[in-house]
Amino acid sequence: MNVGRASLALAALAAVAGAAVVRAQSPARAPAAARRARVVDQCVSCHARLSYTTGAGHGFAAWKGSPHAAAGVGCEACHGGDPRATDPQQAHVGVVPSSDPGSQLYFTRIPDTCGRCHAAEAGYFRTSLHYARLRSDGRGPNCVTCHGSMATSVLTPERMLGTCSACHTAGGVAPVGKAREAARVLALARAENILFDVVKAGVTARAGSGAGARARVMVDEADRHLKAAAEVWHSFRLDSVMARLDDARVNLVGAWVALGHPAPYESQLSRQMGGAARP
Ligand code: HEC
Ligand code: HEC
Ligand code: HEC
Ligand code: HEC
Ligand code: HEC
Repeated sequence: MNVGRASLALAALAAVAGAAVVRAQSPARAPAAARRARVVDQCVSCHARLSYTTGAGHGFAAWKGSPHAAAGVGCEACHGGDPRATDPQQAHVGVVPSSDPGSQLYFTRIPDTCGRCHAAEAGYFRTSLHYARLRSDGRGPNCVTCHGSMATSVLTPERMLGTCSACHTAGGVAPVGKAREAARVLALARAENILFDVVKAGVTARAGSGAGARARVMVDEADRHLKAAAEVWHSFRLDSVMARLDDARVNLVGAWVALGHPAPYESQLSRQMGGAARP
């Protein structure tokens, strides 16, 4: 199906339903490193005292606001070293600058380092053309290109094109069209996540009824497909992502109808949107 159209229709449906929620993207995942009882982390307590104007202090500031800090993933998880040592020399054993090819944060080695905890994303990424190019001539992006090194974030469709166009540009190392197409797929994913929240709220409100129970089965199925889509995304094979999003959408619309709403007509919804937001 046409990506732009589907995206529009879903955005309209979500708007009609009065959605303002943004779905929490994080799956419940707590690797051993995050679950382990935390003793005093000397990397953190010492780097917190360094001036923000130095490279090392800046590193701390970036980490502090990140989802990793919130999840208790310390400096050593990515940099190595001994987080119990109070002496800097001892603490830094094994910590080398990321520009050193021996560093586990050297740009070609980053997928393996992040992949220790984000196995699904790294697994799909290893099957991608991006990874092949990263390994062969260094021209493909790595995880940090898109997510930032420590101020880790997930790209929005608006910010995404700017990131991609570092390489996907006329006369650049990669075609422009692919990144545009990918931005539309990502926008569709976001629209479906918003719709998910709307339908899920409807299911919760109708808990205990037969209609609510029927809708719940479909909402759970949609949830599974949406999570898978965010992982499969890292293969950068957009048709595989679209297949997951189509499965999610069918279930969401099914649940919406099971709750007693009329089936949405995409053409009608597109007209309501005036076609203005078409990418
Ligand atoms: C007692 C203080 C102290 C402790 C503990 C400490 N650091 Fe540092 N770290 C520093 C200072 C000061 C610098 C900047 C000067 C230098 O390179 O030694 C630095 C630099 C760094 C750098 C930049 C290296 C470079 O060459 O660019 C990294 C990365 C780093 N530390 C990571 C860690 C990690 C990971 C830990 C814990 C395993 C840790 N630090 C523990 C004080 C500390
Ligand atoms: C999720 C992984 C991750 C965590 C956790 C993390 N860093 Fe980093 N850090 C990186 C990456 C990747 C780079 C390389 C910079 C780049 O490619 O943008 C980096 C770069 C740095 C640098 C610049 C020197 C260099 O080697 O490039 C410093 C200093 C630093 N980090 C300190 C810290 C401190 C201190 C902590 C904990 C408070 C920390 N980092 C936690 C991934 C991480
Ligand atoms: C020691 C395990 C560990 C390592 C290593 C690690 N992460 Fe994470 N990461 C986590 C945890 C735990 C969270 C927070 C829970 C979650 O969202 O999965 C997280 C969150 C994230 C998020 C936010 C996800 C969201 O839904 O908002 C991104 C993006 C991310 N990590 C990317 C990276 C990148 C890139 C690297 C390598 C530079 C990396 N991680 C290294 C454990 C790790
Ligand atoms: C070319 C850009 C790009 C690269 C390279 C990339 N990602 Fe992502 N990543 C994204 C985008 C965009 C999303 C949001 C996908 C969505 O919401 O459907 C995302 C989502 C994520 C998430 C959150 C998934 C979730 O369930 O919501 C994690 C964790 C993550 N990436 C980790 C990684 C790791 C680890 C690597 C390297 C092995 C990596 N990414 C490489 C662009 C990238
Ligand atoms: C560091 C450079 C770089 C960045 C940044 C980058 N790409 Fe790429 N991308 C490449 C290269 C190189 C190729 C392979 C081009 C070729 O060989 O045809 C590629 C190919 C692709 C393909 C085609 C994959 C296939 O299997 O056919 C897609 C889709 C894609 N990129 C999407 C994106 C998106 C979306 C972003 C931004 C979130 C992005 N890229 C950011 C370098 C990059």
